[in-house]
Amino acid sequence: MYLNEATLLNNVRLRYLKDKIYTYVGNILVAVNPYNDIQDLYSTQSISRYRGKSLGLLPPHVFAIADKAFRDMKVLSQSQSMIVSGESGAGKTESTKYILRYLCETGGYAAGPIEQRILDANPVLEAFGNAKTTRNSNSSRFGKFVEIHFSKSYGVVGGYISHYLLEKSRICSQNVDERNYHIFYQLCSGAPAELKMKMGLGNPEKFHVSVIFSSSLTRILKMPLVQYLVNRGSKTQHTRNLRNDASDFVKIDKALDTLGISAGDRQEIYTIVAAVLHLGNIEFENDVDDSHGGSRLTPASLKSLEEASRLMKLDVGELKLGLAFRTMQTACGDVINVPLKPREAASARDALAKSMYSRLFDNIVSRINASIPFQTSAFYIGVLDIAGFEYFPKNGFEQFCINYCNEKLQTFFNERVLHHEQILYAQEGLQVPRITYADNSDCIQLVEDKMGVIDLLNEEGKLPKPDACHFTAAVHKNLHGHFRLELPRCSKLRQHRELRDDEGFIIRHFAGAVCYETAQFIEKNNDALHSSLEALVCEAKNHFLKSLFETVDQPKRSGKLNYVSVASKFRGQLNELMEKLQSTGTSFIRCIKPNGKMAPKDFDGGGILSQLQCAGMGSVLKLMQQGYPSRTGFQSLHEMYKQYLPGKLARLDARLFCKALFKALGLNDTDFKFGVSKVFFRAGKFAEFDQMLKSDPENLAALVDRVKQWLLRSRWKKVQWGAIMVIKLTKKIEYRRENLIVMQKMVRMHQARKQHQPRYTGISRLKKLQAMHAFKRNENIIHLGLPYGINLDHMQRIASELKANRENSLSIVANLDRNLMAAITKIKTDDKILRSTIEADYVEIVTRVNKELILLDKKLEQQKTAEEQEKLRRIQEQMEADRKREEEEKLRVAEEATMKRKKSQIEVQRRLEEEEVRQLEAQAVKAEAERETIAARHRLNTTQFASMSVEEAMAKAIEEDSLARQQLEQERRDRELALRLAREMGVQVIIPCLFDEEVAANQWGSGAASPVKTDPTKYDLTKWKYSDLRDAINTSCDVDLLEVLKALSE
Ligand SMILES: Nc1ncnc2c1ncn2[C@@H]1O[C@H](COP(=O)(O)OP(=O)(O)OP(=O)(O)O)[C@@H](O)[C@H]1O
Ligand SMILES: [Mg+2]
Repeated sequence: MYLNEATLLNNVRLRYLKDKIYTYVGNILVAVNPYNDIQDLYSTQSISRYRGKSLGLLPPHVFAIADKAFRDMKVLSQSQSMIVSGESGAGKTESTKYILRYLCETGGYAAGPIEQRILDANPVLEAFGNAKTTRNSNSSRFGKFVEIHFSKSYGVVGGYISHYLLEKSRICSQNVDERNYHIFYQLCSGAPAELKMKMGLGNPEKFHVSVIFSSSLTRILKMPLVQYLVNRGSKTQHTRNLRNDASDFVKIDKALDTLGISAGDRQEIYTIVAAVLHLGNIEFENDVDDSHGGSRLTPASLKSLEEASRLMKLDVGELKLGLAFRTMQTACGDVINVPLKPREAASARDALAKSMYSRLFDNIVSRINASIPFQTSAFYIGVLDIAGFEYFPKNGFEQFCINYCNEKLQTFFNERVLHHEQILYAQEGLQVPRITYADNSDCIQLVEDKMGVIDLLNEEGKLPKPDACHFTAAVHKNLHGHFRLELPRCSKLRQHRELRDDEGFIIRHFAGAVCYETAQFIEKNNDALHSSLEALVCEAKNHFLKSLFETVDQPKRSGKLNYVSVASKFRGQLNELMEKLQSTGTSFIRCIKPNGKMAPKDFDGGGILSQLQCAGMGSVLKLMQQGYPSRTGFQSLHEMYKQYLPGKLARLDARLFCKALFKALGLNDTDFKFGVSKVFFRAGKFAEFDQMLKSDPENLAALVDRVKQWLLRSRWKKVQWGAIMVIKLTKKIEYRRENLIVMQKMVRMHQARKQHQPRYTGISRLKKLQAMHAFKRNENIIHLGLPYGINLDHMQRIASELKANRENSLSIVANLDRNLMAAITKIKTDDKILRSTIEADYVEIVTRVNKELILLDKKLEQQKTAEEQEKLRRIQEQMEADRKREEEEKLRVAEEATMKRKKSQIEVQRRLEEEEVRQLEAQAVKAEAERETIAARHRLNTTQFASMSVEEAMAKAIEEDSLARQQLEQERRDRELALRLAREMGVQVIIPCLFDEEVAANQWGSGAASPVKTDPTKYDLTKWKYSDLRDAINTSCDVDLLEVLKALSE
């Protein structure tokens, strides 16, 4: 099951409904108050059942935790403490009583006289320190740490009780539906008649014990209203959940007797209680006769004053004066009585009553301690019963102290359960993931550190006029910005937000934020009685009363500046307590209140969850989920089971034995873990293991056989494993040896290289200067003046190329070569030569080589330039001659072309003339024929004309003329179109002018004109392209052109 708050809550609920009120969370006991008696749960048989049993062996129980503490004390030889915590009514005091009973009855015997006294201390403490509240009808209004001391043989030798923070305000007033301390009611209802008479508590015969509430009490006692027992707000008070006060008184008286308090001493105690009651009935009113605004007793109070002073054995007048006046000393030492106002006088009365009662309580506790003394104590088991974290709508000084105490206990819990646990896991190498938890140490610092809230409160109390608002403002001012402190207006509750900033403060406790109202802080922090009143009491004839004020632990201090405040005292007590807790082993019991109605079988989930959270169960559950709450040392486990084992197994090493045992038992590997010195179990598994072994002794032989088998197997496996390991190790050694040689080689190489590398690098660089390499002149010069590829061969080649001074240059190169060889020899012979020396020699040679090379280069360059210029000159001459020859050739070619063209033109001319002659002859023949035709037609026309009129002849002539014109027009359009087309196609076309043709035609028509002569020179076709020629042939109508083309083609 996954452990978290929800599963825990459900588990607690299911168990609670089955009357199983106890549940373990690890080793922490969660106890839910059943609000009824569960049969046989705390019987003597039950005590015997749990005696000596491991935790978890029997169902969870407060006895099991007590037994564990007892066994731990024995086994670990260490004192133990048990912290019982929870809110009011959760069952802390009841649980404490059961624990004490268990411890006092250890050994199965009834409690001895000392044990009985320890047990009897409880009812006495409850009578004087418990009261009915709305949350618990038997609420402890103080905290206590009860120590039971043991001898070396673990027998009870005595005890000691420390008590903390008795709620004093309850003595004078109580909240609605609450009561004063039980003893007041018990005394009034249960004291013998004689005693009552002595105490001035009225006529006992008329006293009715079953209805005890203040008004009836006063009526029955026939005494004025008992003011300290009056609770005006309560309507049904004390009629329900009534304690049987009368019978309780008898028990208390008997318990006091058992504690060794004599009848006389008991009477003295009751006298103080009665005196407190009578004091409470003294009331004050304004003294009209007093011009200083003083007060006087009300007439009705006079009887009470007398009774009080009688019981206190004080002079009535002195008591009256002491209450109504304050004695003060002036600066010059004069003593003056300052009259008090009625309210101030009432405060003085209350202060006296509180002081008397609280000192009585201290006295009773010290008497109890005196009755259970111990000379020597080896160990002790302490049980802490102190109120848990409290938060009400209105929180005062008491809640502040209680919550401060709970913060400290929570830190202790965190350290013990979470921090130490995790350290132990780490020490034992369990590798449990880290659990984080809220660290509340800053909240403790806020309260108790220097100039923290307590210090500020004490400082305020020392001021001439202490003021709650001033104190609150100082808290906010001095501790401003602290993470744990807030202004009331930051509260989530409206009621708190309504408070002014100087009326309260919020402290963010580990369990939640609590808003404290500071109005009563200063008064409650100062429980010192005013000096005049204290002096009065010290003069009382009642020796017991007198001793109460004299036997205070602290040295007698007086004055405001010297008093030890309640908070400071509590802080000191708490620190002492924490030291005690730190030095002991600890068990935790978290008491849970199941509902606010104090009813059985009513499980209020929300409230319980909140209580579990306040108890820090969330982190514990996380730790349990991953951790190992039960553990035991190998040795102790071995010891524990030794008796069951045969000699062979009993002799085994404790760790090996445990391992073998768990394996043989078939325990799941995840349920336990082996640490360095301890074996750890998951929650609940230790009990399983414990039970398996102890509860089945008959099967022990079989179990031992299984252990033997397992041992045999595991040893065989170990042998195998060992052999493999040895082989592995051998190989590893060999492998490392080989690698060592490689490493050695590398190191030597490195050293040799370090020593000789500069030498051979130097030699190789020098040799390069000699050898044949590509020549990169520019790089050589530019790169730091050092050569790359420069060599003497190259220089020699340059020198031999020189025509002037060759011999000289060659000797320089030879000289350089000698130097170079000398440098190489030097490096070769001196194996200690330094890198810097080699470098310097090299640079020197290179510089010289460079210098000589530059000179040689220069000479060679000059030589080359001269040769180049000569070459150029010759080329130019050659070019000039070539140019002239070319020009002549061109002239010749041009002349030849001209000649050729002329010839072809003449040829064309000749052909044209021949063609012309031929055409002329043809035209002459044609003209002759036409003339013949015309003559014949003329003859016909003349005949026709003869038969036609003149008009008809005219019309015919016109018709012929228009026909000719139309043809001419048509011809013209066609030519134009052809011309345009030719132009569009980019063809060079020369079309004869229509007009010319027309003219020609006319001329031809008239017969007067001569035929057109084509001029062959008109067209120079030599520059025409082939395509142009082709287009002209295809498209042109120019006859001349066509003739030229034709001639050309022939
Ligand atoms: N184990 C129990 N069995 C039966 N009733 C119990 C048990 N524990 C507590 N109660 C009942 O609950 C009441 C309150 O218990 P108890 O006085 O121990 O509370 P508390 O935690 O001490 O409260 P406070 O802080 O007010 O003193 C007891 O008076 C008793 O009636
Ligand atoms: Mg209690």
